[in-house]
Amino acid sequence: MARRLIEPPPPRGPLSERLFEALEGPPDEGLEAPGPIESVDPIADEDLQLALYLAYEIHYTGIRGVDERWEWAPSLLAFRAELERPFEAAVAELVEPAPADELAPVGAALQAIAAEDPGPPLSRYMETQGTLEQMLEHVVHRSAYQLKEADPHSWAIPRLPPRAKAALLEVQNDEYGNGSAERMHSVLFAGTMEALGLDGTYGAYLERLPAVTLATVNLMSGFGLHRRRRGATVGHLAAFEMTSSIPNRRYGNALRRLGFGREATHFYDEHVEADAVHENIAAWDLAGGLAADEPEVVADILFGARALLQIEARWASHLMASWERGESSLREPAAVPA
Ligand SMILES: [Fe+2]
Ligand SMILES: [Fe+2]
Repeated sequence: MARRLIEPPPPRGPLSERLFEALEGPPDEGLEAPGPIESVDPIADEDLQLALYLAYEIHYTGIRGVDERWEWAPSLLAFRAELERPFEAAVAELVEPAPADELAPVGAALQAIAAEDPGPPLSRYMETQGTLEQMLEHVVHRSAYQLKEADPHSWAIPRLPPRAKAALLEVQNDEYGNGSAERMHSVLFAGTMEALGLDGTYGAYLERLPAVTLATVNLMSGFGLHRRRRGATVGHLAAFEMTSSIPNRRYGNALRRLGFGREATHFYDEHVEADAVHENIAAWDLAGGLAADEPEVVADILFGARALLQIEARWASHLMASWERGESSLREPAAVPA
């Protein structure tokens, strides 16, 4: 994979339009905070999620034509805070507060939460009957996260106490290939994309990704980039690892059923075993270690786990519902201006 540089996507409404326009100019000039944002459904709000995605993306990648000093421009941070507010409130509405007796053994609580996954059976559907086109769409959606796999949770590393930090590093070391760039999970995913005839370049499909997909990544970027959400970051990662092994086996099976070989399935096969190990480290050493040292963030650990499952469920439902209607789950490419 080459260096990270994305093309600015076409805006999807007044917020993204105002933001993208300002980003083309000198850093910290011409961007006024929008004031309180009224959104009927912030999770599926195309304009809000794309603006927020770009505001976070500037921490991960270069954006063509955008001065890198924008990353810490006070006006961008103020603008971003306005975007975060309705999204955070919408996520909080989806997540029930943890009952008091759940807070003590956090590893066991996480296992119970993961076992109650509210999402539709997307991976089973893909394994048994998903079409090639649907599999390609699935991979394109997932590219928003998998091409920067592990990065959002890495923001938490310097913010954790020793036991939790050591556990997180143990997981992240595998995600980052244990010293080998070719084995890095984001690189394996780019390999899957290319084996399927897709473009594995970072950000190549941003324009096609709907708000609910961007929301899955914005959720973890938002947790990761705020120290006060370190509990949620840890809970998010723990629940992610705990719900990954079996679905990844099914996605690998889906690709084999569709006639693809090792090049395409390697990413998924790798996760079957790796995440069976990661789920224990993440639940007991990472989340349990953080809970023992900082009991005040336990409720947020469980919040992060539930938020992941709710937002993933929303995303998976979007895919299944689109396909049931016989439609693509991706956005149509915008017409190229003449
Ligand atoms: Fe991974
Ligand atoms: Fe993992």
